[in-house]
Amino acid sequence: MAQPPARKPPTAPIESRRPPRSEVLSAPLRDDPLAGSGYRAIERIGKGGFGEAWIAVHELIGHEVVCKLLHKRHLDDPRMLERVRLEAEAGARNPHPHLVNIFDLRHAADGRPFVVMEYIEGRTLHQVLRTDFNHGPLPLKMAIEIIRQILMALTQLHGAGVAHRDLKPANVMVLRQDPPLIKVIDLGLAKVFGNGAAGTPRPLAIPTASTELQGTPRYMAPEQIDKSDENPVDHRADLWAVGVMMMKLLTGRPPFADSKTMDDVLLATILETPETPSSLLSEPLPPGLDDVVLRALEKRPEDRFASAEAMLEAIAAIDLDAVRPTFKTVPIVPPTDVDEPALFESPKRTVPLPTATEPLAPAEASHGRTEGMPESALPADALRHPRGTLPLAAMAPKLAQELDARHYARAAAVRRELPWSVFFAALGAVALLCAAGALYILHWGGYL
Ligand SMILES: Nc1ncnc2c1ncn2[C@@H]1O[C@H](COP(=O)(O)OP(=O)(O)OP(=O)(O)O)[C@@H](O)[C@H]1O
Ligand SMILES: [Mg+2]
Repeated sequence: MAQPPARKPPTAPIESRRPPRSEVLSAPLRDDPLAGSGYRAIERIGKGGFGEAWIAVHELIGHEVVCKLLHKRHLDDPRMLERVRLEAEAGARNPHPHLVNIFDLRHAADGRPFVVMEYIEGRTLHQVLRTDFNHGPLPLKMAIEIIRQILMALTQLHGAGVAHRDLKPANVMVLRQDPPLIKVIDLGLAKVFGNGAAGTPRPLAIPTASTELQGTPRYMAPEQIDKSDENPVDHRADLWAVGVMMMKLLTGRPPFADSKTMDDVLLATILETPETPSSLLSEPLPPGLDDVVLRALEKRPEDRFASAEAMLEAIAAIDLDAVRPTFKTVPIVPPTDVDEPALFESPKRTVPLPTATEPLAPAEASHGRTEGMPESALPADALRHPRGTLPLAAMAPKLAQELDARHYARAAAVRRELPWSVFFAALGAVALLCAAGALYILHWGGYL
């Protein structure tokens, strides 16, 4: 008699099958950067100009965490040390389901401070966009849900008087895609605006130099670029960054996508009008969505939404089932160097802004490329855009100079071409008159 096929045991959920990373990678590191701190480093998961992010475990209780460690070269820079403290403080004071949880601030044996935070298992939104969606767009409802969760995290942060200032897909972790669940990370450029909101125990001390550019060029608000005392950076700069992300998630293109170099992106951010998102799609977006994006991308902070809550309300009022885009009509714009690495302050890495006539000089190799990446993987112009800060006291005049130069070149071209255009127009008119006269004479002479 035929035996019934043996039933397969039910598959265990993926989570319970996966041993913790710390068990898989448990061999002690020869040069553990966290040695002596109470945490044991397991695997490096990120490296940037600021420092390194490590998966680590608590030596006594085995708690798996991420430790973000300041780079050795910043050890003698008090402002960078203060920035680490601020990142830890801003995060620890603002627990929220859509913000990374910060647990502690410790020091490695060599004195380097590090922030201890929850280990978020997932990929960054930047990685998800690149690997699963060929840089975008995302399905409409997924895009809107991610934006909503970012805005909820911002509501918490802004309520405590803290602006994130470096919102971008690389600083959003995706824990789950359907339905989306995200957490905002990297408060490394957080800034307190005003005096902190009511209920905040005391304003955080902010180590910022008003003459430096901080943020990621593609996501920086006009007031982060063209700094002035009348136009201080506050929570509305984050709403601009949300506008840039919305445009990217909905259409696959950030605003001013044709600007690909750092100075072009900065100029466009200050001067150009962004495209309407639905103009880039084969079908319009649900009514009202274009307006939300364009309002977040208003040049003057006072013309944007007054708060993250106000932007959330405007999104909630949109019927997402009204229309849905099918496919894009414009080419995908893969990110370049201006889309990802953040500029952060460090007086030693100051790079002068190019003038109209002076092209960006190649930077020292270690400044010009994203550390940890093979050079061949970088876009061709990456070396021209050093990670570092720009002395921006002189930026606005230089931007104006650049702009003047462009306008002048255009005007000169028009002036050069104008006399010839007038000459040919006159010649055409005379030829027409002659032809008409000849026809008239032939007609009256009875030849026609
Ligand atoms: N809590 C976390 N859980 C899991 N991964 C994390 C966490 N924090 C950071 N990472 C990973 O480490 C990378 C770098 O972290 P983070 O963005 O905080 O550092 P950063 O030096 O400021 O980087 P950048 O300057 O490129 O923004 C992130 O892109 C992410 O992949
Ligand atoms: Mg980051």
